[in-house]
Amino acid sequence: MAVNLKGKSLASLFDWTREEIEQVLKTSELLKLQNLRGEAHPLLKGKTLGMIFEKASTRTRVSFEVGMWQLGGYALYLSSGDLQLGRGETIGDTAQVLSRYVDGIMARVFSHQTILELVKYSRVPVINGLSDYSHPCQGLADLFTMYEKKGRLEGLKVAYVGDGNNVSHSLLYGCSKTGAHIIVGTPKGYEPRAEVVSRSVEEGRKSGSTVEITNDPEKAVRHADVIYTDVWTSMGQEKEKEERLKRFQAYQVNPQLVRGAKEDFIFMHCLPAHRGEEVVNEVADSKNSVIFDQAENRMHTQKALMALIM
Ligand code: CP
Ligand code: NVA
Repeated sequence: MAVNLKGKSLASLFDWTREEIEQVLKTSELLKLQNLRGEAHPLLKGKTLGMIFEKASTRTRVSFEVGMWQLGGYALYLSSGDLQLGRGETIGDTAQVLSRYVDGIMARVFSHQTILELVKYSRVPVINGLSDYSHPCQGLADLFTMYEKKGRLEGLKVAYVGDGNNVSHSLLYGCSKTGAHIIVGTPKGYEPRAEVVSRSVEEGRKSGSTVEITNDPEKAVRHADVIYTDVWTSMGQEKEKEERLKRFQAYQVNPQLVRGAKEDFIFMHCLPAHRGEEVVNEVADSKNSVIFDQAENRMHTQKALMALIM
């Protein structure tokens, strides 16, 4: 039976059940089909989404804005620097005021605490469009893309190679909740947060998926169905760039590393990619790469998410 998601916020995939996540994936499939067929689907006619951005974005901004338009609604781009937030108005007051105007709030922020504050004070659902802790909208699009390409999530071996960052956290939660095995290969000191790992192990016990962390990139990709990477230096970490470039060299996704994966593995990246760093062109542009379908799916899955919660 369909679960009712009206009014539910998405701060982290950890807060959502397997059934709720699968509901978004099923709805994404329908909406993507309608979009391809050119059928109108004005599920959010007359509704508005406020989009707060503290950081740059290409995919998130455009996929939400166009997605909202396709659903018959309207999205407002609000740069945090132009809001009174930039002059000291609190997150709590901002959330309460915006809630009087819009039907949903999406925010891309530095600190995850900001998302939690928005959720606390908002009367309308809040969507995390990336924080230092998680990127759940990316996680939904990733699961949908894997399902589309491989026909299942259960039992897939997903290898994430690189920095144990926000994207890796959402992938850990998403895979462990839906039955996909996940192994993360990172340099020492750059592992995903311990709390995320232990919670994912716990989720995996329920879904039948295994969760493993290793410092050996070759071990991570061995027999993998999916190889996933992200930038070594996330937004807000620019000062660490030189150090990170050195520390991550052995974790580059290149033809030599992917040799250990299954022949029909898919290569995924949330984008933007720093070609020549975490991935080289021979992999990013290979027949195994699904990075642009994955980027497209951000829009389909976020439309499903908005239609279900708003
Ligand atoms: N993957 C992703 O969130 O991309 P943007 O930073 O371009 O939004
Ligand atoms: N980990 C990256 C993802 C960008 C979409 C960052 O936070 O900058």
